[in-house]
Amino acid sequence: MIAPSILAADFARLAEATDAVRGADWLHVDVMDGHFVPNLTIGLPVVRALLRSTDIPLDCHLMIDDPDRWAIDYAEAGVHNVTVHVEAAHDPVKIAKDLRAAGANAGLSVKPNTPLEPYVELLDHFDTLLVMSVEPGFGGQEFIPDVLEKVRVARRHELNILIEIDGGINADTIEEAAEAGVDCFVAGSAVFGADDPARAVEELRARATREA
Ligand code: DX5
Ligand code: ZN
Repeated sequence: MIAPSILAADFARLAEATDAVRGADWLHVDVMDGHFVPNLTIGLPVVRALLRSTDIPLDCHLMIDDPDRWAIDYAEAGVHNVTVHVEAAHDPVKIAKDLRAAGANAGLSVKPNTPLEPYVELLDHFDTLLVMSVEPGFGGQEFIPDVLEKVRVARRHELNILIEIDGGINADTIEEAAEAGVDCFVAGSAVFGADDPARAVEELRARATREA
């Protein structure tokens, strides 16, 4: 699966950006609060507008403090997959249960330096694991290959979970991520920085599938 990240799109032309990637599996939306990460993006009002303007399921990556308070609103708005950071969540299991009860998938994310092993049992409550392959906060950073070890660990545990990777995914890095066992690839600059974003999605998909 390919999830273009609209962080790399023109925020004044989001409807055009979503139309430009109509073949994508999910649309990745980076919500940043200026506290959990040193950047500020968009929140629920823009997410609601996106939900009205596209049929692509939304994948909201909440890089915010206190997701215990805010994540549920995204699920209730109709977001397909709502991901919170394990470093920010006070009660991840409760968040996951609430998200699922509201009809959304529950996602858990780990920053590059956060180990996975202490949280493996938590993952029974989640639908997706988002492994960050850059420090969260900004697009266009370089892929950190070491994080693929966490993907391999998750695979070895045979969890019933979709593994997503986010940060620095492009034509040069997607194959090794696919080989490690990633199911869903977030790509911002590699998609919206391309002349033809729809074609970039298909090219990434072809590369990932070839190695899977
Ligand atoms: C970074 C975000 C990513 C970002 C990826 O904090 O979580 O989703 O948009 O951008 P690229 O693909 O350009 O690394
Ligand atoms: Zn993201």
